[in-house]
Amino acid sequence: GVTSAPATSTGSRDIAEVLSASGKRCIVFHGSQTGTAEDYASKFAKELQSRFGIPSMTADLEKYDFDSLPALENKLVFFFMATYGEGEPTDNAIEFMEWLNSADDLAAVKFGVFGLGNSTYEFYNAIGRKVQAKIAELNGQFLGPYGEGDDGRGTMDEDFLSWKDAMFASLKDQLDVEEHAMQYQPALEVVELDAADPSTVFLGEPSRKYLDPSQDLSLGPFNHSHPYLAPIASTYELFSLASRSCIHAEFDLSDSNLRYSTGDHLAIWPSNSDAHVSKFLAIFGWEDKRNQVIDIRLLDQTASVPFPTPTTYETVVRHYLGITGPLSRQSLSAIAAFAPTDASKLLAMALGGNKDAFKEKIHDRYMDIADALAYISGGATWEVPFSFVIETTHSLQPRYYSISSSSLSEKRSIHVTAVVEADTPAGSDHLVTGVTTNLLRHIQLTQNQSSQDPHQRYNLSGPRGKLARFKLPVHVRRSTFKLPTNPASPVIMIGPGSGVAPFRGFVRDKVHRKTQNPNEKQGKIMLFYGCRSAEEDFLYKEEWPQYASKLGESFEMITAFSRETTRKVYVQHRIMERAEEIADLLGKGAFIYVCGDASRMARDVHDALAEVLVASKKMTREMAVDMLRNFKIQNRYQEDIW
Ligand code: 2AM
Repeated sequence: GVTSAPATSTGSRDIAEVLSASGKRCIVFHGSQTGTAEDYASKFAKELQSRFGIPSMTADLEKYDFDSLPALENKLVFFFMATYGEGEPTDNAIEFMEWLNSADDLAAVKFGVFGLGNSTYEFYNAIGRKVQAKIAELNGQFLGPYGEGDDGRGTMDEDFLSWKDAMFASLKDQLDVEEHAMQYQPALEVVELDAADPSTVFLGEPSRKYLDPSQDLSLGPFNHSHPYLAPIASTYELFSLASRSCIHAEFDLSDSNLRYSTGDHLAIWPSNSDAHVSKFLAIFGWEDKRNQVIDIRLLDQTASVPFPTPTTYETVVRHYLGITGPLSRQSLSAIAAFAPTDASKLLAMALGGNKDAFKEKIHDRYMDIADALAYISGGATWEVPFSFVIETTHSLQPRYYSISSSSLSEKRSIHVTAVVEADTPAGSDHLVTGVTTNLLRHIQLTQNQSSQDPHQRYNLSGPRGKLARFKLPVHVRRSTFKLPTNPASPVIMIGPGSGVAPFRGFVRDKVHRKTQNPNEKQGKIMLFYGCRSAEEDFLYKEEWPQYASKLGESFEMITAFSRETTRKVYVQHRIMERAEEIADLLGKGAFIYVCGDASRMARDVHDALAEVLVASKKMTREMAVDMLRNFKIQNRYQEDIW
């Protein structure tokens, strides 16, 4: 949800103080990177409050000090902890994890922990598990079982719901609480204003969206709450196919002090397209008042208004709500009470309560929120308080891309390589597209063919006048995906599809060094790349021969075209063909990098590498897998997968 506790109106970072000032009995902390943990924390807190009458608040871990935590005797403390990357805490949880590591005794406090992770990664739910174990070690009391959700198998929602049921059952046993039917208790009140000075009405201007207007837009540090409004210097299409699209986009940093290094990620902040905004407004019957000026009042002092006010219905929907995502079963259960007819109410409740029916009718059809609600009500509009929608809809989050430029050769520009996901799922009649990639594609079309104006489709500049150049809010997220410091170390890069993006950066780094320093000793560079065919979707096809001619013998690109022959040829097949050489390079201290699809490719490549070791080093499979695990620990086997 978009309401979370700031360090409250008092500005206090003291948990005990904030709880007592706000009259709350329960605090639900979230360690969140992309908003998912925050979203579940908010749903959980709302349900504790509405079903059990336990006054609850959510809180960003970063905004509190923990010294008073061990003394919170009559309170309930929950942690929703996401695990990020290679078993690391999210940025906002780093300090808390440090505090927890050196904490003394937590015997007086009652806890509950839910971890959010992805089982395709090696260190699955490492942070949730660590928090749970640490609390146990410090003698904390548990209100119910530890739970975890798995994004890798796509079961996060169902995992959360089963954990929640078990936790609630345990709460009813342990605490003297009574259960009520869920009832919406607004934390916000939306007030429609008759008259407002138009110059004060927020219409999505990026300068006000993120920043105190008195701040200099070009000055960093740029981060999650303070992106840089970057001009897009150029964009072009990389595929030569009508049906699929991959955009190369270059962001100009020359007017800012934004820095990056090769292998980092770029976060791009999207806004919703006209089509999505209109569909969403329509299902709630708000089209006619899309421009109505509104203000927000806080009914619960631990809530906060996540956008500048006064503003309009349309602005909130376009710039703050994640409306293109799927409707969750949890959200459906919460909104069911507002269904327009008895029939749709029954259907909503049935689907909210039945996992399999929900999966078949809603989830597997990739419906977004408006589609799902329209399907349930047969197109009739839902009368839902706008405050409910603001409080329960996931906030629009930045999307992260592997940077495909080199910070050595492109000091003042960042390139990204974004495949436009456009998919018509089985049993569905509509196209599903990614919110940011779609935006980039429309900018590309406009810049190059001036087909349709993205300012209009996306309202990029707000209605008060167009920007001279297209700009999008961005910030850089540091990564550990880096070339070895010693240029003589061999590197083996494996990146099919858009997984090649960071390797274009790596190779450009290498070319830059070679040009600056022709006599520097250079290790072997192998790049395994795969795509469907050499003619259709070969990314940066014209660039690779140029890099090869500059790098000479040390560079070799090995391609796998999966749809040119009757039998699929993938990067892992090419890896097997080069087993001897790869084993030899590993013996010489080679670094392995894998980028791209996490669900199958990264695992298949891992298995192929294990095979390579088995075949050429006469190891057992177990020894090979062990060796690869050690490489990971030593950072000699790095993954940037999604
Ligand atoms: P396919 O779509 O023809 O099956 C980039 O997406 C390339 O990765 C495509 O050539 C795609 O092939 C291929 N690919 C699909 N699944 C893969 C896997 N499990 N391992 C490696 N490459 C894969």
